[in-house]
Amino acid sequence: MKTQVICFANNKGGSGKSTTCASLAYAFAVRGKKVLLVDGDMQLNLTLSFFPEEKVLEFATGENNLFIAVKEQKDLSPMIVRTEYENIDLIPSSTLMSTVECELFTKWQREFILKKLLRPVVESGIYDFVLIDAPPTLGCWVMNILIASDKIVLPVEASPWGLFGLANMLEFIGQMKELAPSLELAGVVVTKVDARKNYFKQTMETLRSTEGIRVYENVIHLDSSVEWAQDNSKPVGSYKKSSRSASEYGLLAEEILKSFG
Ligand SMILES: Nc1ncnc2c1ncn2[C@@H]1O[C@H](COP(=O)(O)OP(=O)(O)O)[C@@H](O)[C@H]1O
Ligand SMILES: [Mg+2]
Repeated sequence: MKTQVICFANNKGGSGKSTTCASLAYAFAVRGKKVLLVDGDMQLNLTLSFFPEEKVLEFATGENNLFIAVKEQKDLSPMIVRTEYENIDLIPSSTLMSTVECELFTKWQREFILKKLLRPVVESGIYDFVLIDAPPTLGCWVMNILIASDKIVLPVEASPWGLFGLANMLEFIGQMKELAPSLELAGVVVTKVDARKNYFKQTMETLRSTEGIRVYENVIHLDSSVEWAQDNSKPVGSYKKSSRSASEYGLLAEEILKSFG
């Protein structure tokens, strides 16, 4: 199968993009898929999900990270680092990602830089999936991420404000399709569901009645193991296999893999 590039995007912060990206990477990896993670956010959360803070800062301030690659339009392969998991490699981010919009501004075909940089990686066929964690913005850099992707997974927090702005995000994706005709919204993942509240039912009803989107059956509940895992620089499936979120992300991974055919 061809390498598929999937991004985790939603302009709303705290919706579970980085958590879902890291957790699904692990769930895909244990199912035998080879994954390359790309940390596209200056918050460095995806990198922090796999490496301790000192290491993350070393990557972020060094020469081998995504920001340097974009700024200098350099080959991505030297930027790839191995994680402790055989099937998961990662391209770290940099705190300087905060200035990426300025860097892109003067570049030729500025919305297509990441797509061009990723092309050799995709064509090498080494990976089954390239998973990109997007920041909570809707600027030129997120355009780069969407245009470089085949599919978008959109995490939505099951909270009153979780759906606020979703229409904007869907419109933005629609506009991106003009520049990337094969880009598709794979589905919406409902995250941080609080089992004690029935607000979740309303979120699901609203989402299911929204035209043109697939809402994954498997939702992710609030689970303190997610935070403990992040504190230990591990994806939750590795940190605590028996946790609720580890098994939910496993089921979601299977649902997503099945939907890809
Ligand atoms: N299932 C979950 N249970 C508990 N906390 C979660 C869960 N998913 C995410 N979180 C927490 O919510 C916050 C936002 O999640 P994150 O993945 O960083 O969102 P985003 O990348 O969209 O900003 C983080 O502090 C994370 O630890
Ligand atoms: Mg994030």
